[in-house]
Amino acid sequence: MSLHAIVAIDEAGAIGFNGQLLCHLPLDLKHFKALTTGHAIVMGRKTLESFPRGPLPGRQNIVLSRNKDYAPQGVTVAATIAAALKAVDMPQPVFVIGGAQIYRATFPRVTTLHLTVIHHTFAQADTFFPTIDPGEWHLLDEERHEPDERHPYAFTFKTLTRR
Ligand SMILES: NC(=O)c1ccc[n+]([C@@H]2O[C@H](COP(=O)([O-])OP(=O)(O)OC[C@H]3O[C@@H](n4cnc5c(N)ncnc54)[C@H](OP(=O)(O)O)[C@@H]3O)[C@@H](O)[C@H]2O)c1
Repeated sequence: MSLHAIVAIDEAGAIGFNGQLLCHLPLDLKHFKALTTGHAIVMGRKTLESFPRGPLPGRQNIVLSRNKDYAPQGVTVAATIAAALKAVDMPQPVFVIGGAQIYRATFPRVTTLHLTVIHHTFAQADTFFPTIDPGEWHLLDEERHEPDERHPYAFTFKTLTRR
């Protein structure tokens, strides 16, 4: 199983605030869609609930919840990480798309990280990605984008593989 994590983080490793993303970056959403379409995406129940229009089209949405009665439409529900990975029914790689609980639970098995590093620190953030030890990861490529009228902050797409 090839397990990738994809995440937008700020300079302090934050990923969310009050159940939502830290900011809106249209190019990042486009990048996310391009990478994940045609694959399974594994997420926590709270991340699914943060999507304004429900499950993401063109992908197998696998949602983790310990609640046995949880059965939203259009998703595969799994009660454990192992069950989530077993349920994958689309080509590799599998993308872990958050939130913090699911990144933490899968991190040791993740072999590739697709980071969007937002060049800002959001003081109000309340949700964080696990610590990335630079010694354990090899930078494959990076692409920086400057702020513009649609993007309030500079950000860099980075792809890292585990050494
Ligand atoms: N920046 C980014 O790229 C990014 C990406 C995704 C999410 N986010 C942000 O992250 C925040 C949400 O993260 P979060 O950590 O609070 O929630 P989360 O990981 O999305 O969901 C947590 C829920 O998942 C279920 N769960 C967690 N671990 C499980 C396990 N091992 N087995 C079975 N079920 C499990 C539980 O659901 P039940 O309570 O139903 O049992 C738990 O309450 C939001 O602010 C969101 O916007 C940011």
